[in-house]
Amino acid sequence: MSCRESDETSRIFRGTFVHATAKEPLEICEDRILGVTDGKIQFIGGADELSSLCTEYNFIAEDVQQLNEGQFLIPGFVDTHFHAPQYPYTGTGMDLQLLGWLEKYAFPVESKYADADFAKRMYDKAVRHSLKWGTTTASYFATIHTEATLELAKVAAKRGQRAFVGKVNMDQNSPKFYIESTEESLRETERFIAELKKLNLPRITPVITPRFSPSCTVELLEGLGKLAKRYDLPIQSHMSESAEECELAVSLFPDYKNDTEVHDRSGLLTDKTYMAHCLCLSDEEIDIVRQRGCGIAHCPSSNTAVRSGMFDVRKMLNAKVKIGLGTDVAGGYQPSILDAIRQAIIVSKLLSLNKPSDYQSIEYREAFMLATLGGSQVLGLDDKIGNFEVGKEFDALLIDVCCEDSPFDVINDLYTDNIEDKVQKFLYLGDDRNIKEVYVCGERVKEPKT
Ligand code: GUN
Ligand code: FE
Repeated sequence: MSCRESDETSRIFRGTFVHATAKEPLEICEDRILGVTDGKIQFIGGADELSSLCTEYNFIAEDVQQLNEGQFLIPGFVDTHFHAPQYPYTGTGMDLQLLGWLEKYAFPVESKYADADFAKRMYDKAVRHSLKWGTTTASYFATIHTEATLELAKVAAKRGQRAFVGKVNMDQNSPKFYIESTEESLRETERFIAELKKLNLPRITPVITPRFSPSCTVELLEGLGKLAKRYDLPIQSHMSESAEECELAVSLFPDYKNDTEVHDRSGLLTDKTYMAHCLCLSDEEIDIVRQRGCGIAHCPSSNTAVRSGMFDVRKMLNAKVKIGLGTDVAGGYQPSILDAIRQAIIVSKLLSLNKPSDYQSIEYREAFMLATLGGSQVLGLDDKIGNFEVGKEFDALLIDVCCEDSPFDVINDLYTDNIEDKVQKFLYLGDDRNIKEVYVCGERVKEPKT
């Protein structure tokens, strides 16, 4: 063994890991070791290989972190859809449906982000809460304001989160106090891309972000499609969110069959595109989404809270469309992917009540897969993150189901839960108290308890 000194960048975890693979939505690997160097997973092996792998990869005994019986590692959660400026009013304003909700709550609050200092303070709270709940990668909508959107990128980078950050575009059907001209919207988007590049923040990616078709002219959508192509960028938006929104889109774009065609003909459906919701897609639209290689951000909490509808996640999984989970703060009322996991299961079970008896709702294993590997696929990051594979970056959560203030028990007078039950209990009953450590790219980012 070498006489190298222990440092922050090398670590070996010894214990239980839980992750999704191409074959298994939730695989439990016990008695394993996983070595991390410079942010990447360097090896994975059996606990009995500790000594030989340490020698081979130049690790020392001090690098080893032994997980106890109540602890296991899972990949960091991926939140594929989060409106960071809406964070201040999470948990309120659920009295209206989508379009009324936007007018009454979202637009007035978002307009305040013209003030970049205010934005910086609010974004810091939003990012901290997202991280605290175990989101190691988030895809954020900001607002139409370039400076404030740059602040969001800086805050996420400072806090250590991996993030896609989008300056929102809206040039029609928006209130006077929160709208841009087409020209300004395109120019500012390009400026945002250039300024973000100058900041050189390796974990932050700019994402083209038309709000949704009703608030964008065809000219703007087409211009954004060209920018995405020119800079080879991901694209996020909302599509086919509710019956009301689809009707509005069809009435505003009479030359197009539906919302999918509006985006497709504007060059906005690419293999780097992910759309939130997609609740009312016809089979023909689903085919287009799959053929273009687009992903879907499934946001069950907001779909229920603003009464948009129930997404048939089973149908989309069967159609082989990439799917991840999103909190959709503040349509969704909690910046927690654990909550999205639970809501996705509940909505799928509710839907199954009106389906033939052989219809299978999703259960906790598949919801876990959507929250981790699925999200990484939607964001095109599955070669880097999403599960534990040698060569991937180490984005992970150390879960402790026996922590002192755990909201649930795994031991009672009759028995101690087995590992499968511990995982299940964490997914159904756990909260941020059980998320003991959060790693992004091998770096510990969650603030220790004070
Ligand atoms: N559609 C357009 N804007 C929004 C938004 O802010 N939230 C949700 N849920 N849907 C939208
Ligand atoms: Fe949204």
